[in-house]
Amino acid sequence: MNDKKSVDIIQEALFSSSVFKEGGERTLNQSFIPEVLNFREDHIRRISQNFRELFSSERGGYSGFSINMAITGSAGIGKTVTSRYTVDRIQSAAEKYHLKLYTDYKNCWTTRTKTSILRSILRDQFGVASRGFSDEESTDILIRRLNSEQAYLLLILDEVSVLNQKDIRGFVHLSEEFGMEHRISLIMISRPTEWKVALSSMVSQRISDVIHFQPYSYEETRKILAYRAELAFKSYALSEDIIDMVSEISDQTKNLRHGIETLYRAGRAADQKRIDEISPELIRRAKNDVYPEMRADILEELNPHELFAALSVARRLHHKGITATTIEHSFKNYRIICEEWNSTPNGEAAFRNYLSTLEAIGILGKVTKGVKGRKGVRARLTIHDVPAAILIERIEVFLAKRLKSER
Ligand SMILES: Nc1ncnc2c1ncn2[C@@H]1O[C@H](COP(=O)(O)OP(=O)(O)OP(=O)(O)O)[C@@H](O)[C@H]1O
Ligand SMILES: [Mg+2]
Repeated sequence: MNDKKSVDIIQEALFSSSVFKEGGERTLNQSFIPEVLNFREDHIRRISQNFRELFSSERGGYSGFSINMAITGSAGIGKTVTSRYTVDRIQSAAEKYHLKLYTDYKNCWTTRTKTSILRSILRDQFGVASRGFSDEESTDILIRRLNSEQAYLLLILDEVSVLNQKDIRGFVHLSEEFGMEHRISLIMISRPTEWKVALSSMVSQRISDVIHFQPYSYEETRKILAYRAELAFKSYALSEDIIDMVSEISDQTKNLRHGIETLYRAGRAADQKRIDEISPELIRRAKNDVYPEMRADILEELNPHELFAALSVARRLHHKGITATTIEHSFKNYRIICEEWNSTPNGEAAFRNYLSTLEAIGILGKVTKGVKGRKGVRARLTIHDVPAAILIERIEVFLAKRLKSER
């Protein structure tokens, strides 16, 4: 390859057209905090209210402010993003009111001990290199800095259950080391099981508010993902049907991250293939990478008619632009497939049972209600876990082998 050509390739890769808007790819990163957080207004309000006193002019007599609060809830429902969003805005309010407030976010998966968290706060916020300092020394520096600046620290500890018990207690009691003038506040984030089992009894006396986040409904998920897609992609790059599909992926696991990551990967794949629109097939493939569920031996558990039924749905969904199909349509397909494999088809009731089995083991997406007003309320069949093309190929190869060995 000559030099000219390599340079052309790089030029093209950097500047050729993309399904992403300029800067859009970044908005699907885990660390990105969007301007708008729909359906979390109540939580944002409640977190903020906990810090009202910090801004109160009557605080005069009482010196210091400290509050510990906790946030719990299942995976991918906005605990992290809502906390960071709110704390960023509390910080802006503090600037406006000339209140000296330091805010920091630490994920305990990345910074795993109290020692390393204290050190990284000193380094990031105050430019103090405290390597080799003990916790006591680090705490002492922190206290002196905050006191001398009449400043406060609001710290988010995400995935707090990763810390050992001693460290967690240490953080919860940190404020008391300040004597009269408490200056440190904590927002601790944890999954509900860890919270209930490991943390709650240990720290609950020191926690003044616990907010439980609930998963988003399908409608909420869809609105949020439509908004996130709009931030990230050019308008022609994806259709309403794709948003439906990604929303169902997220809704199935009740985890918004699965939808967002699927969008991201599908967008990347579209760019790599130089396609200017994200297809259902790209979504299925991307989903498979995000959430690989199809065990290799799963087909072994199925009888031939269940496999025919899986094929009947997969074939329909393999068509360009089709993201969901109906039971009636699949049943017709099933009868054709039985003929192809020289098998006598069973009736529709039996067919529905096959679909239920496939749904239970996770090959078929759950039979969802159609979105009201657009497609009526007929049951729809989807496959999320594996690209249709791959499912078809695997089943056909498997059937050929099995039926041959039976003959
Ligand atoms: N209301 C919302 N509007 C826009 N994006 C959202 C909203 N809620 C969550 N997200 C996005 O969904 C993804 C998952 O949210 P987040 O990381 O906050 O979940 P989490 O509850 O902290 O999950 P985990 O327990 O796994 O850490 C993030 O990309 C986040 O930006
Ligand atoms: Mg989180």
